[in-house]
Amino acid sequence: MASSSFACPFSAVSVSLLLMLSLIALMHFDKCEAQLSPTFYDNTCPNVSAIVREQLLLAQRSDPRIFASLIRLFFHDCFTNGCEASLLLDNTTEIKSEKFALPNNNSARGYEVIDAVKTAVENSCPGIVSCADILAIAAEASVHLSYGPHWTVPLGRRDGRMAYFNAASILPGPFDNVTVLQQKFAAVGLNDIDLVSLSGAHTFGRAQCFTFRHRLYNFSNGNPDPSLNTTYLAKLRQRCPDGGNRTVLNNLDPVTPDVFDNKYYTNLQNLKGLLTTDQDLLSAADTNASTAPYVNRFAADKKVFFDSFVEGMIKMGNIEVLTGSSGEVRKNCRVVNGASGPQFEIRLRDVEASSAEEI
Ligand code: HEM
Ligand SMILES: *[C@@H]1O[C@H](CO)[C@@H](O)[C@H](O)[C@H]1NC(C)=O
Ligand SMILES: *[C@@H]1O[C@H](CO)[C@@H](O)[C@H](O)[C@H]1NC(C)=O
Ligand SMILES: *[C@@H]1O[C@H](CO)[C@@H](O)[C@H](O)[C@H]1NC(C)=O
Ligand SMILES: *[C@@H]1O[C@H](CO)[C@@H](O)[C@H](O)[C@H]1NC(C)=O
Ligand SMILES: *[C@@H]1O[C@H](CO)[C@@H](O)[C@H](O)[C@H]1NC(C)=O
Ligand SMILES: *[C@@H]1O[C@H](CO)[C@@H](O)[C@H](O)[C@H]1NC(C)=O
Ligand SMILES: *[C@@H]1O[C@H](CO)[C@@H](O)[C@H](O)[C@H]1NC(C)=O
Ligand SMILES: *[C@@H]1O[C@H](CO)[C@@H](O)[C@H](O)[C@H]1NC(C)=O
Repeated sequence: MASSSFACPFSAVSVSLLLMLSLIALMHFDKCEAQLSPTFYDNTCPNVSAIVREQLLLAQRSDPRIFASLIRLFFHDCFTNGCEASLLLDNTTEIKSEKFALPNNNSARGYEVIDAVKTAVENSCPGIVSCADILAIAAEASVHLSYGPHWTVPLGRRDGRMAYFNAASILPGPFDNVTVLQQKFAAVGLNDIDLVSLSGAHTFGRAQCFTFRHRLYNFSNGNPDPSLNTTYLAKLRQRCPDGGNRTVLNNLDPVTPDVFDNKYYTNLQNLKGLLTTDQDLLSAADTNASTAPYVNRFAADKKVFFDSFVEGMIKMGNIEVLTGSSGEVRKNCRVVNGASGPQFEIRLRDVEASSAEEI
């Protein structure tokens, strides 16, 4: 999927300008290929970022965790067949919703807030802004509103018309080792630095007991994970007793739970990573990972972390995007346009045919 057409904006310009642009295009071929643009909505929905931000602040009043949840939605959408809002689609007879795939079921959250944002955006600029771009803008706003870095978000993604339940298995899980994490990131074009910087999103948000409880009791030979700080271990055991409630929530960053900063990395240095996939980036039980130098670099310098994080987010936001006339701009993020009615059958056949030939 997502073999988007090559679409440089060459129409409606004078011939001499066209020649000049062609020359520039030849010199900067790679830039033209990327296709997303920070000015994409400047003429059609110039206030979109402010509208998103207003809705996010409104939601945060009753849900202090929402910023973390929203950036995670963007991550889970992008890894699963690209940033085309497939994650937001609900079950229908034709759609097997990704929301119930293992990494998302009873875990990914914030869909109602995305609905509220979409409604507010539609009220100002109907039919213009895709759900995929709303996720990208919401991810940036969530980081910035949590005192993290600010960046200009490349825009112009379009929404897909299918969900990919099985493809969600590419998402990294809490029991993966570093080698598997590296492979899963590499599979979507992200390198080791991206793996370490993007994992820094665990500087806010929560995780359920079952995602790390294996570290607390019988990790090996009846002992807890040796790469877990003993005072932190005692606290976690209180919150997540052996055999107790598996869904109780815990801060991913015990030091500054709702602030986007680089404490995640100093936590790892103090053996206070919550998931094994966090701690293993610095020190697994028996090895020092090849990713350790990046952890130490980001722990030492918040600006270096922020710069790398922004770079990683922009790369992640470019995974398999639909642009130009591919896909559509959904009216409702939960359903494809025209989902009921006679035309839908035809469109669905088209989508299936084209995705089959591109595999
Ligand atoms: C490196 C591999 C990763 C693994 C194995 C992983 C795994 C997890 C797990 C298990 C949870 C807790 C889910 C739950 O208990 O319901 C979680 C939460 C979270 N993850 Fe990741 N994650 C990874 C990378 C990322 C990336 C790249 C981002 C974003 C850029 C991210 C952002 C978050 C956030 C913000 C939360 C908290 C969400 C909330 O409170 O609603 N994670 N992650
Ligand atoms: C942009 O949106 C914000 C939030 O809804 C609103 O307060 C502001 O007045 C809007 N600005 C313009 C120029 O429409
Ligand atoms: C949606 O479909 C999935 C997979 O077919 C199923 O497990 C889940 O229970 C359904 N959810 C709802 C709300 O219908
Ligand atoms: C999702 O979780 C529910 C429990 O809340 C479970 O009944 C359902 O089988 C799960 N769905 C899938 C597809 O595993
Ligand atoms: C990582 O996990 C994979 C899959 O479970 C396994 O094949 C591999 O041996 C593991 N690698 C290391 C270094 O433990
Ligand atoms: C720990 O787990 C291992 C295998 O998973 C088991 O053989 C052992 O009896 C357990 N030890 C304790 C103290 O529960
Ligand atoms: C488990 O914990 C969750 C979250 O704190 C709570 O909503 C749920 O009621 C608890 N379940 C049981 C059986 O106590
Ligand atoms: C464990 O955490 C405490 C603070 O809670 C810290 O002083 C100590 O250095 C940490 N231990 C290790 C081995 O990092
Ligand atoms: C990992 O690195 C630490 C300090 O950098 C060192 O003390 C330790 O021996 C190393 N462990 C392994 C298994 O190489």
